[in-house]
Amino acid sequence: MTISAAPEAIPVILDVDTGVDDALAILFALAHPGINVIGISCVAGNASLERVVENTLRILDVADAPYIPVAAGARRPLLEPARSAAHVHGESGLGTLRLPPTDRQAETISSIELMHKLILASPHPVTLVGLAPQTNLALLLRQYPDVVNNIERIVFMGGSTTVGNATAVAEFNVWHDPEAAAIVLDSGVPTFMYGLDVFNQVSIPERVAAALVQSDSNVSQVVGRLLGNRIALGSGRNAEYMGLIGDAGALCALVDPGALTIEMLPLRVQLAGYGRGQTLVDKRIHPGEDIVHGLATEWEAAEVALDVDVDRYVRLFLNTLGLGSALQQ
Ligand code: RIB
Ligand code: CA
Repeated sequence: MTISAAPEAIPVILDVDTGVDDALAILFALAHPGINVIGISCVAGNASLERVVENTLRILDVADAPYIPVAAGARRPLLEPARSAAHVHGESGLGTLRLPPTDRQAETISSIELMHKLILASPHPVTLVGLAPQTNLALLLRQYPDVVNNIERIVFMGGSTTVGNATAVAEFNVWHDPEAAAIVLDSGVPTFMYGLDVFNQVSIPERVAAALVQSDSNVSQVVGRLLGNRIALGSGRNAEYMGLIGDAGALCALVDPGALTIEMLPLRVQLAGYGRGQTLVDKRIHPGEDIVHGLATEWEAAEVALDVDVDRYVRLFLNTLGLGSALQQ
């Protein structure tokens, strides 16, 4: 895999809970010349913090990446215990994929310190891409509020304007640490939500994933196996997980937002009751009684991705990784 960020590439810090589809996202980000990954921050989410760090370092080997600082952050959400998604990502976090041990080491400073240092040192405003529960991002913003002056925006995979997955109404990343997500939305930094509305759509056909596994290239085999994990889950009630590129779609959104239907909408996180962790999105086009009668409280506004050109992101994902020929199989 060739890694070459163009000089005008977007400086990006990834915050990950690697995670089958975080792995796909890391591979995509490293391969795209328009993205310059300057650091990776790890958090407990899909798997334990230790597994997330190890998986992330091993995926960098798969990409044959140059040195990129990786650091461990929070091992649990702000208020609640960590609750992994092993039923989706397996105990290891990478499903059935087994990667060789790596010589790479995580930084000795925490990912909060690493992000602070990288953001202040960057000559251009940094884009934070959150692909995980937002505990690290919230801690960063609380501990070092000065970083907002050099953050371009926060793009996050999380939330939904319709269905949930962790609960009937809440998406996993926001559900895992709702207070953290609320802090991020309230930070004053422009935010972009790549939620389940689009996440659940961008899927690679099973025959294409199978062709990737058959290839001679290690990257191709790893991508095919990662997608295959999703496909293996795609029976019965889990059919929505078939072949999804998942978190990688949030990176596609960075470099090709034109494939998305995006609206600036009032957005907040529900913190109490059954709806805890749900992202509430106000899509009304006429003022309701709450506004008319002066009962409404202020909501933050965020850019929200509502729909996606699926074929365009499938091609973008595979072509960026040099795997586009698998579509012809
Ligand atoms: O809600 C979807 C989950 O799978 C999230 O953790 C997302 O980041 C992906 O890894
Ligand atoms: Ca993730």
